[in-house]
Amino acid sequence: MRIKVIAGNWKMNNDLFESKDLISRLLNGLINTTANCEVVICPPFTSLSEASAMIKGSTIKLGAQNFHQEEIGAFTGEVSAKMLLSTGCEFVIIGHSERRTIFMETDELINKKILRAINNNLKPIFCVGELLEEREKNITEQVIQRQVLKGLENFSVGYLKNLIIAYEPVWAIGTGKTANPQQAEEVHHFIRKLIERHFSQEFAKSLRILYGGSVKPDNSKDLLAQKNIDGALVGGACLNADSFLNIIKSA
Ligand code: PGA
Repeated sequence: MRIKVIAGNWKMNNDLFESKDLISRLLNGLINTTANCEVVICPPFTSLSEASAMIKGSTIKLGAQNFHQEEIGAFTGEVSAKMLLSTGCEFVIIGHSERRTIFMETDELINKKILRAINNNLKPIFCVGELLEEREKNITEQVIQRQVLKGLENFSVGYLKNLIIAYEPVWAIGTGKTANPQQAEEVHHFIRKLIERHFSQEFAKSLRILYGGSVKPDNSKDLLAQKNIDGALVGGACLNADSFLNIIKSA
């Protein structure tokens, strides 16, 4: 049985005060709900420590949105995996399409980050997804295959037990256009089969694959009902406590 994960990627939103407010609302909303899914919030770096203190003892878990691939050193302005761990982070998003396109992150860099995260006991939420042009050219599967296999190159299966993959079609991120449940399920199924062929059947069965891209309370139920969709990575809709709570309820 794969336990669903609902993760909120706050992106560059919410200063410390706004973060505290949103977390209080989420905690209040979750008091009387027995969420039978894992709930993860990924606030900006500046809110991680405070978030960690606030969610202690609750069902909410903490993740970060990024970090630097090197362990330590002269990298002005960067944050290491160990630093994230010390704030109480359990998860980290790697390879988000905004990092790939705006910050030029390559598959090779993403591969290094996954390794660094795992070596520091952080659970990677590894994002893959095709651009609109790629979907229109019918090369979605090739793109996803390249991203997944390059990102996981040289890993043995035992190393990847805490990995989560998030399929996020780039054309659906922040656009209000969601992949319909069938379109999403097709790619999730493809990813699971790919993992089965390249790693093992057992690992493929246990691997959680989240969908992301304009997930909202009114579409989450249908998406999450698909056989190979094990949760959601939510952007815009996680910034509002009620809508994030409603997505959690739909899981
Ligand atoms: P969105 O973002 O829900 O606003 O489309 C999802 C994401 O970027 O992870």
